[in-house]
Amino acid sequence: MRAAGINASDWKKREGLMDRELPQTLGYEAAGIIDEVGSGVTHGIVGDRVFGLCIEGAAQAELAVLSYYAPIPPSLDFAGAAALPSVVETATRGLDQLGVVSGNTVLINGASGSVGSVAVQLAVARGARVIGTASPASHDYLRSLGSEAVVYGEGLVDRVRMLAPGGVEGALDVAGSGVLPELIDLAGGPEHVVTIADFAGAQEHGVRFSRGDDGRAVHALGEIGALVESGRFSLPVAQTFPLAEIARAHRAGEDGQVRGKLVLLID
Ligand SMILES: NC(=O)c1ccc[n+]([C@@H]2O[C@H](COP(=O)([O-])OP(=O)(O)OC[C@H]3O[C@@H](n4cnc5c(N)ncnc54)[C@H](OP(=O)(O)O)[C@@H]3O)[C@@H](O)[C@H]2O)c1
Repeated sequence: MRAAGINASDWKKREGLMDRELPQTLGYEAAGIIDEVGSGVTHGIVGDRVFGLCIEGAAQAELAVLSYYAPIPPSLDFAGAAALPSVVETATRGLDQLGVVSGNTVLINGASGSVGSVAVQLAVARGARVIGTASPASHDYLRSLGSEAVVYGEGLVDRVRMLAPGGVEGALDVAGSGVLPELIDLAGGPEHVVTIADFAGAQEHGVRFSRGDDGRAVHALGEIGALVESGRFSLPVAQTFPLAEIARAHRAGEDGQVRGKLVLLID
């Protein structure tokens, strides 16, 4: 391993909110160099630069077994590559499950965060019109990604209808901020809404909660390279930390004041 991304799921796991049984390991995504290939593996040879997902959640370590991986896009360093697998897979999965295609108008709630900003760029790349919710301070950022921007909070439905009087074809809830009824209203039914962050709301309102155990969009790992190299996709690395400072990296993520990804560098 050369670098491993940090995600909200890491500190949720550390706090015992996901898997309570001990011992537990951390890290769902990483980038590095293949140093051994297991029997039956058909992609990659020793020495390849790869990035990918570690479904077991054990990638924040010197060595890891990647469950799904692809060649690192040539223009990315290890930190830039390690930032991508989880958010790119998650955002692609949400858009796939909504069936977002060219010409659709899609609403992304929580569009300025890591998953949200990736979902915006991938939806734009599909040819969709994107409306994203974010705080006013993030609106210029959203517009730079190709999204229209509205403030979240009370009056959301009216603000979105000002931009899209007929509503939207699909809504992806990344923030989990308790707005599923509003998203259902705008999208015309719960079947046109997916949330990755509001488990209770999904059960209450009949919305799909997407977490990957119903199929991961691993095809995204092999596809993102072309978008990166064409200059149509980027995700900033906000800060890097040595592996020994993993606790400080988690705290920075939990503070929630970061734009872009936090990445551990592993020597
Ligand atoms: N189910 C899955 O497979 C899966 C996978 C990955 C992540 N997740 C979950 O997805 C969530 C987002 O992860 P992330 O890494 O993108 O987080 P993040 O980078 O920390 O982004 C959080 C964003 O939420 C926005 N926000 C805060 N309050 C909001 C509100 N009331 N309405 C709309 N947006 C609001 C903030 O926008 P402003 O700064 O503009 O206020 C911020 O940009 C986490 O809960 C994570 O656990 C789920």
